[in-house]
Amino acid sequence: MIYETLRLERRGRVGIVTLVRADALNALNERLMDELTHAVDVLEADAEIGCLILTGSGRAFAAGADIKEMAFKTYPQAYGEDFITRNWERITRTRKPVIAAVNGLALGGGCELAMMCDFILAADNARFGQPEITVGVMPGAGGTQRLARFIGKSKAMEMCLSGRMMDAAEAERCGLVSRIVPADQLLEEAIRTAEKIAGHPQPMVMLTKEAVNRAYETTLSEGVRFERRLAQSVFAFADQREGAVAFIEKRAPEYKHR
Ligand code: HXC
Repeated sequence: MIYETLRLERRGRVGIVTLVRADALNALNERLMDELTHAVDVLEADAEIGCLILTGSGRAFAAGADIKEMAFKTYPQAYGEDFITRNWERITRTRKPVIAAVNGLALGGGCELAMMCDFILAADNARFGQPEITVGVMPGAGGTQRLARFIGKSKAMEMCLSGRMMDAAEAERCGLVSRIVPADQLLEEAIRTAEKIAGHPQPMVMLTKEAVNRAYETTLSEGVRFERRLAQSVFAFADQREGAVAFIEKRAPEYKHR
């Protein structure tokens, strides 16, 4: 596929996807979401890639679904083409970790896309919001559900009902983002973090991601039981032995990612 709306790069074991519709603040149109789905498929299938980064070019991560493309959509069209479900949620099914490196604006579908990633690193100029209501619609890509889980009901309700944006400091305070980084260092820091993750044994990274995600889908006792089964399974992997032996021999481990 020839990409028009994003750039796909590899830096060692890190795959970087940059949205490049900067003149439309990376608004998420059908083409972009198809390309993103394809790019994630490519990186997921690439055994040399251990971690993904999603970021935006220009002054936005993404300013939401493309309002111009949606303006005259009808319900039969939205239902018939399975709007959003068809091509927006590939990232939620990625087994490898995905870091959202949020530069500038992450609004509406852009905020939802960032929340579909495994964690968010925010530039100090990042701003988050669910302003759908200000353009006559409502969040439709998980915003009401994921934001409430991230930041709690009161703040999520206020954000979704008022359309207010929050800055990076507030987003960090309320747990929406893991860390704030100076804007000019965001990508480098995201790459450093992704390299660290991708340097860990790939099976352990995937198992750990699956276990943390289960915390949001089940009860505590079921989640702990699930974690226990995964944790017992680590002894099936060569990297477990290598990690322990390297520790005992006081040397760096040489993982085979299996
Ligand atoms: C299409 C968009 C866009 C969007 C910005 N642009 N956001 N185009 N869809 N979501 C375009 C503008 O039209 C403009 O193009 C260019 O990007 C620059 O934007 P400006 O508005 O000129 O910039 P600025 O004045 O700095 O304002 C920035 C902004 C504003 C506050 C972010 O652009 C804005 O309010 N955008 C919409 C944000 C939003 O409501 N998102 C939620 C969408 S709904 P031109 O060609 O004029 O230069 C959604 C989910 C829907 O995400 C779910 C289904 C129902």
